[in-house]
Amino acid sequence: MGETAKSGKSAPNAPQDAQSGDDAYGLREGEIAVELPTEFDASLYYIGRIHTPWRRREDCPKNARGSDAACTVELDPRWVAGLTGLETVSHVVLLYWMDQARRDLVLQSPRHYAEHRGTFALRSPARPNPIAVSVARLVRIEGNTLTVVGLDCLDNTPLLDIKPYFASTDSVPDAQVGWHAGRGS
Ligand SMILES: C[S@@+](CC[C@H](N)C(=O)[O-])C[C@H]1O[C@@H](n2cnc3c(N)ncnc32)[C@H](O)[C@@H]1O
Repeated sequence: MGETAKSGKSAPNAPQDAQSGDDAYGLREGEIAVELPTEFDASLYYIGRIHTPWRRREDCPKNARGSDAACTVELDPRWVAGLTGLETVSHVVLLYWMDQARRDLVLQSPRHYAEHRGTFALRSPARPNPIAVSVARLVRIEGNTLTVVGLDCLDNTPLLDIKPYFASTDSVPDAQVGWHAGRGS
């Protein structure tokens, strides 16, 4: 188990936000960071890049329903045969790597909420493995480029995976997040 780290302005893996110039990755009051393991357990391939209109985190939508902007997913051409059949799909699950996020927070105080919450109770990009997920509407596929609506990430965010969204099994209309009840999206 990692030891609890002292509060501080930045962790070694917490890059400064070059575009905004602010210390967006520092600890807020009440947040707790832990010491990260010294070694990784696995490695992965970035299979492409996501292009969006947003260059600064504060300009990004907070979630996948926060903007109708068309975004493009540029797949590494080596994987293009993997898109076969995807043209019949209306919505895709996109998994992407929040490459600007710190990875050591266990307790967080998101800017728009007053209370502290555990990392695994949040959709914050700051997590041990900063994997993000969104369900996006697939507009079209042209070669290795997908146009989608329903993303919330910075321009050039690395892409990890594309999967078809199955409403029959992925949708849970009565699912609840108790602490978020009544707050809207
Ligand atoms: C709350 S997260 C949700 C991500 C995803 N929809 C999910 O639920 O897993 C979205 C926020 O992550 C931040 N963000 C976007 N792209 C990022 C990146 N490449 N690295 C770090 N943070 C990023 C922005 O502040 C954005 O509003």
